[in-house]
Amino acid sequence: MKNFFDNEIDPQKVLIPQNRLQERVSELGHEISQAFDGKDIVLVAMLKGSFIFAADLLRAMKIPCTIDFMGISSYAGQRRSGIVRITKDLDDSVAGRNVLLVEDIIDTGLTASYLLRTLKQRGPASVDICTLLDKAARRIIDLPIAYRGFEIPDVFVVGYGMDYQQKYRNLPHIAILRPSRSSEDQLESGDG
Ligand code: IMP
Ligand code: MG
Repeated sequence: MKNFFDNEIDPQKVLIPQNRLQERVSELGHEISQAFDGKDIVLVAMLKGSFIFAADLLRAMKIPCTIDFMGISSYAGQRRSGIVRITKDLDDSVAGRNVLLVEDIIDTGLTASYLLRTLKQRGPASVDICTLLDKAARRIIDLPIAYRGFEIPDVFVVGYGMDYQQKYRNLPHIAILRPSRSSEDQLESGDG
């Protein structure tokens, strides 16, 4: 069977192999469990990009916790505003609870910053950000990141939940997409 990844993904360009991901996610699970021991914590996973990370992080948690999902999509041509459309809201209220916002990747920081504001308006006890990847060099807004898996350079990545035009989410590692287009074009399709 032809490997359909071969067309756009350079197999040499594995940025983070599967075993490093698993190790780091398990460390994060321990760290977060210690910080929230005895507290009521809800993981809020941002769809779609963070669903695999969130599933692994949830299994790495050592304390009782719940998970909820929020779907967002950027408005066409509005990526720079950071204002997103909520396509699926949380099922349950976060009032009085400790919220951990689980993101796949923080790039400019606009999306996470908007989500942080939105969640804080709902009366949670606390809101912290946990991101698997941090493209710190691209940040245009100051953002407190409590938990980060890896800092990565300014490259467009796919795999482990992250997509390019909805493909490659099933790669078990993080790969660098062949830089054929600008990263703005790559992101145009919208949902995370
Ligand atoms: P920000 O608002 O610029 O921080 O964009 C964050 C969102 O853009 C992430 O949650 C992803 O959905 C998407 N994104 C940013 N960089 C990448 C990438 O390299 N690969 C895949 N998605 C990305
Ligand atoms: Mg996302």
